[in-house]
Amino acid sequence: MSTSLSRYLVEQQRAKNHIPPELRLLLEVVARACKSISHAVNKGALGGVLGSAHSENVQGEVQKKLDIIANEVLIEANEWGGHLAAMASEEMDSIYLVPNRYPQGEYLLLFDPLDGSSNIDVNVSIGTIFSVLKKTEGSAGVSEADFLQQGSAQVAAGYCVYGPQTTLVLTVGDGVAMFTLDREQGSFVLTQEDVQIPADTQEFAINMSNMRHWAPPVKQYIEDCLAGKAGARGKDFNMRWVASMVADVHRILTRGGVFMYPWDQREPNKPGKLRLMYEANPMAWLVEQAGGAATNGQQRILDIQPTELHQRVSVFLGSKNEVQRVTALHQAS
Ligand code: AHG
Ligand code: MN
Ligand code: MN
Repeated sequence: MSTSLSRYLVEQQRAKNHIPPELRLLLEVVARACKSISHAVNKGALGGVLGSAHSENVQGEVQKKLDIIANEVLIEANEWGGHLAAMASEEMDSIYLVPNRYPQGEYLLLFDPLDGSSNIDVNVSIGTIFSVLKKTEGSAGVSEADFLQQGSAQVAAGYCVYGPQTTLVLTVGDGVAMFTLDREQGSFVLTQEDVQIPADTQEFAINMSNMRHWAPPVKQYIEDCLAGKAGARGKDFNMRWVASMVADVHRILTRGGVFMYPWDQREPNKPGKLRLMYEANPMAWLVEQAGGAATNGQQRILDIQPTELHQRVSVFLGSKNEVQRVTALHQAS
């Protein structure tokens, strides 16, 4: 008998008492929204969902139609349930308050509604990333300041990858579980529990075209990998770069590897390309929960105190020994 996401959440609650009913509702609603985004993604050209929306988000990136559709699906699914105080998204300049006509809850939901936008039109895996925080007690109303919590304060995090299969990957702080969408049943079915990332790997993921812009520690790390058996590492490495963080992280959770999106000289004033609160934090927690590591080159990502909703960060995550190596190179420089 297969275990649905709903059953998994209920059983986790019974056994470990760490998923209050409102959080369970939230996670089920997010999963339902992901199911609906998955259907839109699958329709592709037939659903008129491909191509540009000809608008820009707060980070100055041109939005794709699916960026906006996925954002709307997540908002509409989540605003009425009474479980949320507010939401924040890559595609919205400021936080989204639950409308007055609905009851307010105590959770805060952050998301990258559609990750890997450059892959939408070319039929390559994309995804949705989400992070759940709890509003700190005492403060009346809700403001952006309520969201500025360290990644270590997350109460749930996950992503849904829309690839050859649609897979939802989740942590509530007790390991990582994977659920595959059964389209006939219309539900997510538990397909892997206690996901573990091997500590060693011979596979790295980085956008090599930026090599000339990297800082010396990143150059050093990759040069050593490229030197293969004859070099300092004494082994050959393989490279993969999907350019959808969800797909690259999914591969790493499945078979190990190290993913890097470092600071580079193209935009020296930005700490990196990826966003801390709805890309790096949820992925860092999933990776740590699977026995891997995640740093910004200097410190654990989950320990960074955010100062802005859309702040960026350098990311090194995946197999523990490789993340330690590239972090040590930064710390020694
Ligand atoms: P988004 O589509 O949400 O803006 O995120 C894209 C991110 C991430 O998914 C990926 O790892 C990276 O950008 C790809 O960057 P390159 O275009 O430099 O390969
Ligand atoms: Mn993204
Ligand atoms: Mn996005």
